[in-house]
Amino acid sequence: GLPEYVKIVEVGPRDGLQNEKVIVPTDIKIEFINQLSQTGLSVIEVTSFVSSRWVPQMADHTEVMKGICQYPGVRYPVLTPNLQGFHRAVAAGATEIAVFGAASESFSKKNINCSIDESMEKFEEVIKSARHLNIPARGYVSCALGCPYEGSITPQKVTEVSKRLYSMGCYEISLGDTIGVGTPGSMKRMLESVIKEIPPSALAVHCHDTYGQALANILTALQMGINVVDSAVSGLGGCPYAKGASGNVATEDLIYMLNGLGLNTGVNLYKVMEAGDFICKAVNKTTNSKVAQASFSA
Ligand code: HMG
Ligand code: MG
Repeated sequence: GLPEYVKIVEVGPRDGLQNEKVIVPTDIKIEFINQLSQTGLSVIEVTSFVSSRWVPQMADHTEVMKGICQYPGVRYPVLTPNLQGFHRAVAAGATEIAVFGAASESFSKKNINCSIDESMEKFEEVIKSARHLNIPARGYVSCALGCPYEGSITPQKVTEVSKRLYSMGCYEISLGDTIGVGTPGSMKRMLESVIKEIPPSALAVHCHDTYGQALANILTALQMGINVVDSAVSGLGGCPYAKGASGNVATEDLIYMLNGLGLNTGVNLYKVMEAGDFICKAVNKTTNSKVAQASFSA
């Protein structure tokens, strides 16, 4: 059966904006996050403490982290690829982090400039330091359903990398369909393998919607006992090191589906649509959310 409650991890301010070519002013990002904080969302990924030469859009990570209002009941994780990023994140006031690995060697190299094994050494240092400060760490596994450089990725490889991150102490593993090539079939096969090693309660899915399969893939994951789903308002998003990758599943569309299934999210769809409208106007884009399109034209 389906879970009663689904936790939505809003990645719009990070994944949603990281790929935007035009630099979004810091005060717009802060206002965007503050609006999201008032929608009922319990997790909002704020920014990335990565190299500004690699991802210029995230260069204002410290200002954004320090500038937002931290609402009670909302967690504000940030991405930290290594100790340098971790120390900067902590200095900026971060109280939750995420490391991000991949199930593909080529993607690991392109995205974080090191092999999977090297990345695991860096993540282990980060997670150890985080544990000393009581900072929870989440772990991403990119290319869980396919790689822009290597094509298909085996469920075994996804399981192996996920297990390493989980054993290191990541409380939750987010399985990323980085380029949105998965289908309910490949999602099911991948999860069947991962679930043998990691309980579904410690898994999340992170679906980009490139091939229009994201909601179907998410429903498949829910049916398999997963109840944490990443999404981005307005369907913004994409990874600069995954060519052809398009936006994440839109938070509005996800909530609409979950509401229809009678599953509780605690999130107000209308308020999320307003935050989506705000950021789309600010970055001069039309929304990718079908629900927002339908609602605003109605
Ligand atoms: P590197 O060049 O290999 O790092 O970058 P390095 O350790 O060799 O250091 C080189 C320079 O980078 C040095 O500066 C360091 O100080 C600096 P220099 O002395 O030359 O002036 N540096 C840093 N600066 C700021 N913050 C840091 C940091 N670390 C080193 N943390 C690095 C390695 C990981 C930093 C780089 O490759 C990078 O920034 N990559 C960007 C990765 C990224 O943000 N990708 C997008 C997010 S992942 C994603 O979108 C997928 C996800 O959504 C799930 C899915 O969809 O699948 C999560
Ligand atoms: Mg992503």
